[in-house]
Amino acid sequence: MKSEILLGGAALAATFLLAACGQKEISFKADVQPIIQQNCLECHAEGGEGQKKSGLLLTSYDSLMKGTRFGPIVKPGDSLTSALNMLIEGRADPSLRMPHGKASLPKEKTDLLKKWVDQGAKNN
Ligand code: HEC
Repeated sequence: MKSEILLGGAALAATFLLAACGQKEISFKADVQPIIQQNCLECHAEGGEGQKKSGLLLTSYDSLMKGTRFGPIVKPGDSLTSALNMLIEGRADPSLRMPHGKASLPKEKTDLLKKWVDQGAKNN
């Protein structure tokens, strides 16, 4: 009985902590996909310039996780070394910044993709 109360308290505290740090879980469908649709599909849909050059198709979770013809661009849990995050944050060679030849994404959007990768790049 006593342990149940303790557990309940811990779960409640964890919920408060998550809320306090703004660490809500990012959703692939609700948060990530709309950003990709708006900013990347123009070139990374089937037959687009970016898809043809790099092999990277961004039309679905599976194709995103598959990456370019050289391999994955997302390392779940590690936004620091994920090519996806490096390119949109401008941490790679300027010629490879994405979206290619366009204005960078606003920080709130690059942060969102960063959190999504750090939270495990889930198909949620
Ligand atoms: C205007 C067209 C265009 C848009 C928009 C665009 N890309 Fe690209 N993308 C390209 C081209 C072209 C390449 C191939 C670059 C090369 O190899 O020189 C590429 C390559 C890439 C690569 C692979 C780079 C590598 O390591 O070879 C990634 C990752 C990528 N794009 C992500 C994105 C993301 C994420 C977005 C949306 C935020 C995006 N791109 C929007 C044109 C675009």
